[in-house]
Amino acid sequence: MRQALVIANWKLNGDTALLKDMAEHFHHVDIQEQVNVVICPPAVYLKTAAVLFEPSGIELGGQNCSEYGSGAYTGEISAEMLRDIGCEYVLIGHSERRALFAETDEMVAGKIKQAQQCNLRPVLCVGETLAEREANAVESVIRGQLEKALGEADFNNLVIAYEPVWAIGTGKTATPEQAQEVHKMIRDWVASKAPESAQKLQILYGGSVKADNASTLFHQADIDGGLIGGASLDTEQFDAICQAA
Ligand code: G3P
Repeated sequence: MRQALVIANWKLNGDTALLKDMAEHFHHVDIQEQVNVVICPPAVYLKTAAVLFEPSGIELGGQNCSEYGSGAYTGEISAEMLRDIGCEYVLIGHSERRALFAETDEMVAGKIKQAQQCNLRPVLCVGETLAEREANAVESVIRGQLEKALGEADFNNLVIAYEPVWAIGTGKTATPEQAQEVHKMIRDWVASKAPESAQKLQILYGGSVKADNASTLFHQADIDGGLIGGASLDTEQFDAICQAA
């Protein structure tokens, strides 16, 4: 049985007050037995978050890392630095980075390599656009992203997040059937590359997950939790989503 995993992706949102509110709330909620909860705030808050969340067992993640280990790369944040300040996870290849910051599959592969060299758990984000879904190209798009990102990856500490781009921030959540179909395809693809890892692999769904749809999604056979955007900025709503896992 795979451990449920719920990750909050705050994106370019949040502040110290929200960190304190969430840390206070989860300090009194014994949830880590049931589900692993991870918070990915903007990088500037990670050190504060490490101190505030330590008593609750909530883990931390970065929203991105450099494909470089160190050196003259102004503005970059390395996987090693994320590890050094207490992160266990790092999101890699989020669709917003691919679309808005011209992140390529090759960059994604390099970031995964950096993360695994630092013993961070990479959360590889994959997903199709609405146009790709309407063109019945979902499987080919997802397979292509997996192939290009995971050529040299270690499947043992990997997490994969399926985030249909058309569901991110839109309120148009994938149906449980749509999500399960893609999650099973992802798990089958991993089984073809690393049979011993496929059943252990945690595959998360992301895209307009809310308190009222989380349970049905998370109880699909190949959905092991969620990658939560907007709803993770509201402590009560995020708690309800974690409780649903
Ligand atoms: O990484 C999670 C995010 O892309 C999902 O966003 O607001 O649709 O939950 P949201």
